[in-house]
Parts: sequence; C-alpha cells; structure tokens
Amino acid sequence: MRIALFTKQIKELKTDCLIYSCYEENIEELEIFNEQTNGLIAHILHNKEFIGKINQIYSLRLNGNIKRLILLGLGKRTEFTTKKAREAIAKAVTYARDQDIKELSVHVFNDLHPQESANLIVEASRLSLYNFNHYKTQNKNEQKEITAFTLVADQNNFIEVDKGIRNALILTEAVNIARDLGNHPGNIATPSYIAKKAKELALKTGIKCTILGNRDLERWGMNAILAVNKGSAHQAKLVILEYSGNRKGKTICLVGKGITFDSGGISIKPSDKMDEMKYDMCGGATVIGTLYAAAQLKLPHKIIGIIPLTENMPSGNAYKPGDIIKAYNGKMIDVIDTDAEGRVVLSDALAYTKNYKPEIVIDYATLTGACVVALGEECSGLFTQDDQLAKQLTESGEKTGERLWRLPLWEEYKELIKSSHADVKNYGGRYGGAITAAAFLQEFVECKKWAHLDIAGTAWVTKNKGINPVGATGVGIRMTIEFLKNWK
Ligand code: BES
Ligand code: ZN
Ligand code: ZN
Repeated sequence: MRIALFTKQIKELKTDCLIYSCYEENIEELEIFNEQTNGLIAHILHNKEFIGKINQIYSLRLNGNIKRLILLGLGKRTEFTTKKAREAIAKAVTYARDQDIKELSVHVFNDLHPQESANLIVEASRLSLYNFNHYKTQNKNEQKEITAFTLVADQNNFIEVDKGIRNALILTEAVNIARDLGNHPGNIATPSYIAKKAKELALKTGIKCTILGNRDLERWGMNAILAVNKGSAHQAKLVILEYSGNRKGKTICLVGKGITFDSGGISIKPSDKMDEMKYDMCGGATVIGTLYAAAQLKLPHKIIGIIPLTENMPSGNAYKPGDIIKAYNGKMIDVIDTDAEGRVVLSDALAYTKNYKPEIVIDYATLTGACVVALGEECSGLFTQDDQLAKQLTESGEKTGERLWRLPLWEEYKELIKSSHADVKNYGGRYGGAITAAAFLQEFVECKKWAHLDIAGTAWVTKNKGINPVGATGVGIRMTIEFLKNWK
C-alpha cells in the first residue's frame, strides 16, 4: 500500500473515496461538503441520519472530484480516547476495503496534534488492513485490497504530518512482520525458519545476529532449552540480536518465548484449540519486531534481543514429568508438568542476560492460560518488583493502546514453587498460576529492573477485533518502542 500526502484545499482533492471523521459536537463541520453533495449533507444532518456517534459510518456516493464520502463518528469529544480513535479508523478503512475501494483518502483529525493524528491514522489503517494470505491459492485476484492511500492534511502541518507517517510506517512494518511470523504455521515456522528470518531482518538494519544450535547450547550449558527440545524432530535455536544505537549507552535486554508449537509434550494438551499453540512463539516475534523497529528509528540505546526457539512435543525422547534439569545459571529445575515449558526455556534465556550487565530486562511470553482467565483479552499481565518500571511500561501501554495490568509478585508466592528434590519446580498449582509462573522466572534474572509480560491473552485474536485482524497481533512492539523513546 502506497502512502501519499495531500495538503491542498479539500475542494481540489480527487479521490475514489474520502473518510472524514467528526465528533458529535462538531457535526456542523460537515457542511464544508454541502456544495460537493448538492446540499445532501445538510439534509442528512437535518434528519439526524448521521449524528457522529462513536464508530457510526455513513457512506454517500457523489459525482464530483470525490466519488464517495464516508462519514465516521468519533462520539462525544469528552469521551474521546486515542484507543477509540484507532478502532474507529480501523472500522472505516476496513469498511472501505470491503466495498472494494482501491484508492482511499483519509482526512486527519482536526483537533489532535498533527503528528500524532497522522501517526495514529496510518498506524490504525495499516494494522487493520493487514491480510495474511500466503496459503490461499484460490481466487487470489478476487481479494479486496486498498493499494493507494492518501492522508489529507493542512499545508502548514506538512513537516509534522510527514514525521507521523514515517514513524507509523516503521512501526507497522515491524508489527506486520511479527504477525507474519506468528501466523505462519508450525510446520513452516520452525525454529530454524524463524532464526533465518531474524537474521535476514538483522542484516537489513545493521543488527548483529548470532544463532546457536543444539551443539552450541550443549557447550554453553543451556540444558533447559535442550530439555524442552528433546521431543522435537527439529533442532532448537537461540537467536541473539544485538543493536548498538549508542556505544556508551545503557543496555536493555528483551527476551521472547519462542515455542513454535506447544503440544504440551508428555503432559499433552487436550486437542480443542491445540492448533492455536502455533502462536506460542509470539513473544519471540515481538522481540524480533521491536529490534527491527528500534534499529530503523535509530534509537540511542544498546538493545539485546534473546529468543529461545523450539517445539514442545511428546516422543520417546521427550523430557518427562519428574525430570530434573540444570539451567544455565546452575539452578536445578524439577519438571512437574512438561506443558509449563515456556518458563523452562526462558530460564536459560533470562539467566544469559547477565552477560550484558543490562540496566533493564523485559520478557514477553504467551506463558499461562491463568493470565487469560484473570485478565481476559483486553490487556497483558505485567509483573515486576520495580514500581517506576511498572509505571513507565503501563503509561507506554496506555499511550499505544497496548494495555498492561500489574499483578503482584510478592515473596509469599515463592513458597508455591519450592521443590522437595531440586531448587525450584516448574508448576505451582492452579491457584495464582500466572503469578507462580512469574515467580519461577524471577529465580533466573539477576537484574533488579526486570519486567515480565504475559501476553497469552493478547498475542492473537480468533475474531477480527479493532485494529487486529484474525491471527497474531504483534502485541508489545508499539508499547515497547514508546517506552524506549522515553527511556533516558
Ligand atoms: N503456551 C501455554 C500457555 C497458553 C495457554 C497461552 C492458552 C495461551 C492460551 C503454556 O505453555 C502452558 O501450557 N501453560 C500451562 C501452564 C500449566 C501447565 C502450569 C497453562 O497455562 O495451562
Ligand atoms: Zn505449554
Ligand atoms: Zn507454551
């Protein structure tokens, strides 16, 4: 989709379709279209056919320069949020796409900062129009797709609007890459496939990429990743991405769970929805996407991405309940449930971060069903001991619409993962399941400023929802980039 910018008088705009949004209070604004619509607008407003209610869409066909006008309601000005705005834009642009419009223009919001407005519209459009059709071989040319997109703004705001567009293009490319990684099925997106993609993206952006295979992992003592890998026919990979935006700057490590398919292993899952476990590498995809975006934005930090990749499968060789494994930091893990594999692979990856002496460590993982039970699909779970980090991440989440909700990580929960025969066990019972998983991870992180994000409820959707089409969402990238932009 090409993106153009139009900054002349709206009367001069020639387009197949223009989306124009307004608040309930500002509905008279629409009278600027009176001439072009031969007074139809006045009629529609008079009859209250369009009142600007949130997400209301009213479509008119015209004969002039603008062939079709889509009015989009933003609701009451006092109830307006950028999250609602993103979702309204998603609604309108997907509506236009479904009407088989190929060339679309969208007018910026009048009373939002021009850069923010442009960023928001391009972001919401590119994210909601994302379409994963790699495996559709039939009727490909019948697919509806918007190929040309024009943002309509005031000439005076040209520079800011242009900045907003550029930022949105980088971010949405990164998110859509992460979505692709998530949406490719487990038989294609194996550990080596994802490692290869990470390397390609790293090469494009000057990020250093190191890929470790099973033999390297053995040598390095990463037995936890290897244990989970034992049942799989595919080798495990550990991807390490190193971006240096500033030689002397502080270091942040981002760690992402990369289970390319989670069958549960010997503690096998029920077959209902097991197909969705191809998304169990979405934390890893988020880390890859975040580094890709950070490098293109030239953020002035040292950012390290670490992604342990493997399937979790049952087999005669698979790791078993009762097995005891020595992790990278020497701690002994008592495997109670092989389906709690995410925390096992993350133990090695998190312990490894100490080699970078990072200021901050953040991990992203589709870690527990318990987190989805607790919080649903509206936010990711946030776990950290650091109040300042919690505040900064939560604010970044609010700003980008990728919401976080903090759950406790009190010492008392540690009791639940004490093992009789080893240092720690990988299952602490059903109660507080998302928290005991976080408490387990904590055993392997030395950095005090560490946050764990449980994205089990937000990493994919099974119905189109807001800016997210069915499938992987790429959650976490926009929130993290916002956080990194503000990190001093
Ligand atoms: N990948 C799953 C978590 C998950 C489940 C994410 C459903 C999204 C939707 C994870 O590896 C897992 O299986 N967790 C178990 C942990 C339990 C065995 C302690 C769970 O949540 O049931
Ligand atoms: Zn599992
Ligand atoms: Zn899993």
